[in-house]
Amino acid sequence: MTKYVNAVITEEQKESSLPILEGTLGPHAVDIQNLYPRHNLLAFDPGFRSTASCKSAITFVDGDNGVLLYRGYPIEELAEHSNFEEVTYLLMHGELPKVDQYQEFIALLHRHNLLHEQVMSFYRGFRRDAHPMAVMVGVVGALSAFYHDVMDIQKQEDRMRAAIRLVAKMPMLAAASYTYSIGRPQRYPNNKFDFSSNFLQMMFGRPSEEYVVDPVLARAFDVILILHADHEQNASTSTVRLAASSGANPFACIAAGVASLWGPAHGGANEAVLKMLQEIGTVENIPKAIARAKDKNDSFRLMGFGHRVYKNFDPRSRVIQVQAKKVLEHLGIKDPLLDVALKLEEIALKDSYFIERKLYPNVDFYSGILLRAMGFPMNFFTAIFALARTAGWVSHWLELQHESHGIDRPRQLYVGSPLRHHPKKK
Ligand code: CMC
Repeated sequence: MTKYVNAVITEEQKESSLPILEGTLGPHAVDIQNLYPRHNLLAFDPGFRSTASCKSAITFVDGDNGVLLYRGYPIEELAEHSNFEEVTYLLMHGELPKVDQYQEFIALLHRHNLLHEQVMSFYRGFRRDAHPMAVMVGVVGALSAFYHDVMDIQKQEDRMRAAIRLVAKMPMLAAASYTYSIGRPQRYPNNKFDFSSNFLQMMFGRPSEEYVVDPVLARAFDVILILHADHEQNASTSTVRLAASSGANPFACIAAGVASLWGPAHGGANEAVLKMLQEIGTVENIPKAIARAKDKNDSFRLMGFGHRVYKNFDPRSRVIQVQAKKVLEHLGIKDPLLDVALKLEEIALKDSYFIERKLYPNVDFYSGILLRAMGFPMNFFTAIFALARTAGWVSHWLELQHESHGIDRPRQLYVGSPLRHHPKKK
């Protein structure tokens, strides 16, 4: 039975019953679709703090209790018991794959993991020192020129092929944005490797030498990919959905997602965290940094702290902290920045400013330390986020194709000049 909330719209003295929609978990949503047609009123929610932009069955986040579920499975369990390929299948199809489904999925990823040779010439148009995310925005978008004519997004088969192509090609696309910058010839995918190992060999391997995978690093990298694979309606995923609602080419939609992810308030935070830790430098400088973060006249924020949805711990940050310690120990690295990070977290979590505002370390707080230990350059961190999030983006893109609400078209509260006339008008 549909529940309703009674809304009395005082401006026009009209009363409306608005249906309440119940999801499986999380807060209910008031359906305001009739607000404008019936009352000529719009809902105002800049930043979408109280807005459910769509229905989705992919990922659930409970920010008050630090819960993240992919298709119902807790992120901690997936990080422990699954690999990235299984998680991608789960996000795309709704269930963990059975053995034959898994093999078929891997075969598809293998079939589509090469880049058209012509794509490689796009890289040469970029300056060597271009930011990898700038390159990724361009090259992912450029893929739309390769597959546009042979794809009909009305056909489920074509849609699935486009989604697989995106996931499968992203490792080489990302790796090439690095190898191009250092002038090293790009290695091709090698299907004897799993997804993460394959990426590592394309990123760090020399074409002239055998690449030996370090299983501890490959596993840590796989966990990073799993943790970043999806996060419901975040800025980049919403960007993908918005772009896709017009029926745009999927490669172009994902390029839009890459662009949105780049910002320091979103995926760019992992790079910003490491820069901040380097700037702080030593444990003695932490109080100064904390004071700056609290000063309203200073734009400095503690990067890797706070989250729009998590008002308790970010479950991803706990998993990644364990991996960071494991990898540093395995490699015998004593990173003073880890000490700075641990102390910073300890001090901030006891500080009333952070407690009152419910600011906790998010996934990016430790991922930079881990990625640096693995040998990734700092400006490449967000490209790894993009590599992982492609699994989520394509899953949302696929889900959206079954929705029938048409193009997304938000409205606005207009605060500009009322009607006036051109000075030359007689
Ligand atoms: N350092 C210091 N103060 C902060 C921070 C921070 N990192 N984050 C929020 N605040 C303060 C903010 O100044 C405000 O204070 P007041 O109420 O006195 O004005 C209050 O906390 C609420 O902040 P907000 O900006 O309204 O919070 P939001 O939900 O809009 O922003 C956020 C969320 C993630 C953009 C923000 O916390 C932030 O900028 N954090 C640093 C960047 C970061 O780590 N981003 C990665 C997010 S996780 C990866 C991902 O999913 O993309």
